[in-house]
Amino acid sequence: MSKLLSGWLIAPSASTLGPEIDRLYNLVLVITAVIFVLTESVLIYFCLRYRQKPGEKAAATHGNTTAEIIWTAIPAAIMITLGFMSQNLWAKLRQPTNFPEPDIVVHVMAEQWLWHFKYEGPEGEIEVQNDFHLPVDKKVRFELTSQDVIHGFYIPDLRINQDAVPGLTTTIWVEVTKTGQYELRCTQFCGTNHYQMKGNLTVESPDDFQAWLKGAKAAAF
Ligand code: CUA
Repeated sequence: MSKLLSGWLIAPSASTLGPEIDRLYNLVLVITAVIFVLTESVLIYFCLRYRQKPGEKAAATHGNTTAEIIWTAIPAAIMITLGFMSQNLWAKLRQPTNFPEPDIVVHVMAEQWLWHFKYEGPEGEIEVQNDFHLPVDKKVRFELTSQDVIHGFYIPDLRINQDAVPGLTTTIWVEVTKTGQYELRCTQFCGTNHYQMKGNLTVESPDDFQAWLKGAKAAAF
């Protein structure tokens, strides 16, 4: 079932937690799809079955306690089950106390309408804008903040999404499993050029990454 979305609604995941996130997402999609088809079918059936007919008078009903209990209990049970199923994954992905020890830390500063990335390089700090690199199979911690308004740091292929908030440092981590090019997008409406606020992530071998770090220029922020 985890293949359901991959390559169709969303690109295949390229991070260690990606398959787990997709499995949960697909489960929710299947449950909502089944309920959607079921309720729409009943609605259409009732529209036809009980439509106006000559000589027949409409009957009034005043609720049905049994039906109300059933349609409250079933969604409640589904919600509670999904809550328990997602708790472990949520804790791994979003609880800073559960984050793995990072191999590298990347400081991200968002501003209208670009992304700054600051790294600890072999020869001091380096800073790049919009185009940034990461090594494959390494644990990366992002520390995010913003200079002006709230921006959203979203890399769909890696299944990570975290707001960058002025005056706060928010964190998220990822371990990328496939080398390649990935798109970063801003997901918070942050002004006129929000739609242009994109970044390009290159994921490469640790050696190539170190070479890139060496070649990048010194930090400014
Ligand atoms: Cu930054 Cu939208």
